[in-house]
Amino acid sequence: MKNLKKTDPAIYQLINKENKRQADTLMMIPSENIASKAVEEAMGSCLGNKYGEGYPNRRYYQGNEYIDQLEELVIERAKKMFSVPAANVQPLSGSPANFAVYTAILAPGDTIMGLNLSSGGHLTHGAPFTASSKYFRSVQYGTNKDGWIDYDGLRKLAKKEKPKIIIASTTSYARFLEWKKFSEIAENVGAYLMADIAHIAGLIVAGVYPSPVPYVHIVTTTTHKTLRGPRGAMILTTVKGLKKDPDLAKKIDKAIIPGIQGGPHFNNIAGIGVALYEDSNAKFKTYGRQIIKNARILAETLKKHGFNLVTGGTDSHLVLVDLRNKELLGNTVAEACDLAKIVLNRNGIPFDPNPPFYPSGVRLGTPGLTSRNMKEKEMRDIAGFITKIVSALQKTKTKLKLSLEDEKNKDKRHALVSQTRIIPIIAKQVKALCKKFPIKDSY
Ligand SMILES: Cc1ncc(COP(=O)(O)O)c(C=O)c1O
Repeated sequence: MKNLKKTDPAIYQLINKENKRQADTLMMIPSENIASKAVEEAMGSCLGNKYGEGYPNRRYYQGNEYIDQLEELVIERAKKMFSVPAANVQPLSGSPANFAVYTAILAPGDTIMGLNLSSGGHLTHGAPFTASSKYFRSVQYGTNKDGWIDYDGLRKLAKKEKPKIIIASTTSYARFLEWKKFSEIAENVGAYLMADIAHIAGLIVAGVYPSPVPYVHIVTTTTHKTLRGPRGAMILTTVKGLKKDPDLAKKIDKAIIPGIQGGPHFNNIAGIGVALYEDSNAKFKTYGRQIIKNARILAETLKKHGFNLVTGGTDSHLVLVDLRNKELLGNTVAEACDLAKIVLNRNGIPFDPNPPFYPSGVRLGTPGLTSRNMKEKEMRDIAGFITKIVSALQKTKTKLKLSLEDEKNKDKRHALVSQTRIIPIIAKQVKALCKKFPIKDSY
């Protein structure tokens, strides 16, 4: 970054600090990952200079000779990777990709049906206060008390509400989705079925999570999570989708541009292409397997140490910890772990007695750690660190005579975390672990 250093030292320094922060901390937010240097180079290339509204050979601007070849190449890679007849690689991110699908096939006010937030759904799946519920009528399904998706409830709700689209997707659900069940339910009511595989796309490519492609009409995915690419997204139309509506892929293309987007971000599209190339290598299968092995060991070790997990475990890259038996809020544990250089996020749990801003859980993921080559031993060590932090927080909380309600107060929470003496000690151990597993080029 020698040019950046000379031209803009302020931005240069901030990037350097963030670089160091990533190197010195454990990336355990399940939606984050470490893209390769080749992906970074494509993203930082001259492609960002080019405008090219439209699609290959159908642009509104001149000068797209190489841009067209590039987008066509990335589309072909996406189609091959997911065995689909059509792919749109222009969505700027996962949220606009989902909204584009809705606008492609629905009229304003039509009914959409996604998983509710507290059950592990994403905002764009019809959550209150989002465009997905403002411009469409959203009815939502959920999980049972034990945290597993309630397929019987989903079937009954679909029969009653007759949604035009059912969204099969999660953002904080650790178990396999049962694509066949979703497809039977959608077919019974004549609904489109969309799988948003933002979190699990890389696991599907690695063959360690079942693919929804034979069962659904449309797939959306981000490219920056388990796919380990740049920020961006893709919309895939399946054979089944084209059978339902031969114009489906065309409708989706139109929904992206002129529907909701303008000029494509060709630098990111190139980065997506590089990631897809990298992900097609056999090494990526090993990586995917290790992500899941790591999550399982993390889950088992946490359970052994007395933690309750939503659904009791995991099939995927993430673990959702229910902190109610620890009598601590997700905020407190996430902030304490952050100080100990373990970066995770607070998260709601199904039927959470606490509000979304002060939830009863934390969400942990293994893709970022696995990109650093950490394996089972390190997962056991990390579960041990988290256990020590949580039991020390419990002791400090008793000493300070704080209630769960007190934890919602920022100052009181800060006092609780800062008086928990073990945190800086764990931080040192985490730093040493990070040093042993440096961020190298992930490809
Ligand atoms: C399942 C799912 N869909 C969509 C999105 C939105 O992606 P983005 O943040 O790129 O808009 C996310 C983000 O975490 C997600 O988990």
